[in-house]
Amino acid sequence: MTTKLTWLGHAAWLVEHSGARILIDPFLSGNPTASMSADQARADFILLTHAHGDHLGDTVAIAKRTGAPVLSNFEVSVWLGNHGVENAQGLNPGGGAQLPFGRVTFTRADHSSSFPDGTYGGVACGIVLQLDGLTLYNTGDTALFSDMELFGRRYRPDVVTLPIGDYFTMGPDDAVEALRLLKPRHALPQHYNTFPPIKQDGGAWASRVQRELGIAARALQPGDVYSL
Ligand code: NI
Ligand code: MN
Repeated sequence: MTTKLTWLGHAAWLVEHSGARILIDPFLSGNPTASMSADQARADFILLTHAHGDHLGDTVAIAKRTGAPVLSNFEVSVWLGNHGVENAQGLNPGGGAQLPFGRVTFTRADHSSSFPDGTYGGVACGIVLQLDGLTLYNTGDTALFSDMELFGRRYRPDVVTLPIGDYFTMGPDDAVEALRLLKPRHALPQHYNTFPPIKQDGGAWASRVQRELGIAARALQPGDVYSL
């Protein structure tokens, strides 16, 4: 069964699997690299790694328009409920839920998580998606941490999406080390080139990952689709 990953720019992804459209961190309005507008976004489920504006993005508008359930950490789910999202489900690191398309597990991420107005947004998370025949690990915004080695053994991700931007998250060098620990078959960079402080050469990074680790890595352009 084919799974399609579309990079929408920054940390926003559309995962299409078995007829389900799973939108992750849909920051489209105000994202200078977004490949679609919030009005065009279609979703059956929305997954959020944390509360920062460049991840929360257009979640409220898209959830209200589509009726898609939103899965996030507990504090973000309460905030979404207070902002009119009817089906906000609050999980937390280590917890997961079985959904029609597979299992979603929230994991540790080393990062902060506040709302755009500065209020507390729980802890930042990564997300493991265990689909039929394919496991995807989106690290979310994070630093490198050694538990990634454990995640590699525990979840055996086929594909990892991870930040390489530096400044707010791990940069290119630490992202290579993360992949050395995780040992996926495929790697896709995110969270770079959106704003000046996180400018990076994605193509050079992907070549290095391929050369040093033998992992298929590709720097997508916003709007590009990666099929697995
Ligand atoms: Ni963040
Ligand atoms: Mn971010």
